[in-house]
Amino acid sequence: MINGIPTLEDLGDIEGERILVRTDFNVPLDDGRIVDDFRIRAALPTIHWLQQAGGKVVCASHLGRPKGEPNPAYSMDPVRERLAELAPGVELLENLRFDPGETSNDAAFVARLTEGIDLYVNDAFGASHREHASIVGPAKTLPSAMGRLLAKEVDVLMGLRDRPKRPFVAVLGGAKISDKLGVVEALLETVDSLVIGGAMCFTFFAARGEPIGDSLFEPDQVDTCRRILDESGDKIHLPDDLVGLDANGQFATWGTRLPDGAKGFDIGPGSAAAFTDVIMDARMVFWNGPMGMFEDERFAAGTRTVAQAMADTKAFTVVGGGDSAAALAQFGLDDEVDHVSTGGGASLELLELGDLPGLAALRGAPNA
Ligand code: 3PG
Repeated sequence: MINGIPTLEDLGDIEGERILVRTDFNVPLDDGRIVDDFRIRAALPTIHWLQQAGGKVVCASHLGRPKGEPNPAYSMDPVRERLAELAPGVELLENLRFDPGETSNDAAFVARLTEGIDLYVNDAFGASHREHASIVGPAKTLPSAMGRLLAKEVDVLMGLRDRPKRPFVAVLGGAKISDKLGVVEALLETVDSLVIGGAMCFTFFAARGEPIGDSLFEPDQVDTCRRILDESGDKIHLPDDLVGLDANGQFATWGTRLPDGAKGFDIGPGSAAAFTDVIMDARMVFWNGPMGMFEDERFAAGTRTVAQAMADTKAFTVVGGGDSAAALAQFGLDDEVDHVSTGGGASLELLELGDLPGLAALRGAPNA
């Protein structure tokens, strides 16, 4: 038992038992082929442990966002094929989101899902911030446990929150500040430095009254960003140079005051060097969100430099899932950090709130 949540060992004798394992096999697909099987491999320690203890494993996951009805584009077939190679003998149900009852957390859907099932394991860290049927339903009635992946993710991310090694630095990027306001405010309580890149920095520049050309920003968040800047003293590090396209569509580099018609798409080389210094001096770093539009090679340098600093620093390094994990993989640096989380939204929510619906559900299980 860890913090009131049963672990695999707490399931007792599982010989011959049918175990529903909620996994997050929401993997990136290209034309029906799996681009990155990281999330499937991440579930293997749990699956293998259960199989070796004699359990019959039935995995269930969502894939993409089908709208509550079967859609061949989101079929689990490619995942089923890969899973059969990595863990023969595992049953995999069809995409949970083919049924509207999954996202609406419908009790009748939970009943169908758990029919003929003896035990429930949640190993779907990346989906545990969702109050969906397969995440919060089965533990109401079945003896349950958290899987190895879920346990590891919670241990690492809660460690950042509760046992920070200082200097503790958070690096946040991505397009929208509105998606990350909660975690920004929570992190400012704990971190020594908060480094901000990505398009979200333009809303901060707008809050400082600086011209941002035609760059992406969120007008309705300007007042909030101004308050955050006022309250956070010198904890926040924003870029001091930017690169992008000028009004004629030509590649250009500026300070933080952008001319009319300009669009910023990446942090500049001076900012990338300054961010590297902050990361190199840290003892713990959490990174979520790219510094720019790294999918376009012209605007990948900022994200690549930050990824390289994550690889080079002696600090304990954690990368939140989603785009920053994809960037690390694109630069071949995913083995160079201490922990790559399988959850984007889930890791941010756990850092912000210190709990997730999926964890709360396991704490309420009959065997907890
Ligand atoms: C993710 O990819 O972050 C998880 O699988 C959750 O997916 P969702 O955002 O569609 O709920």
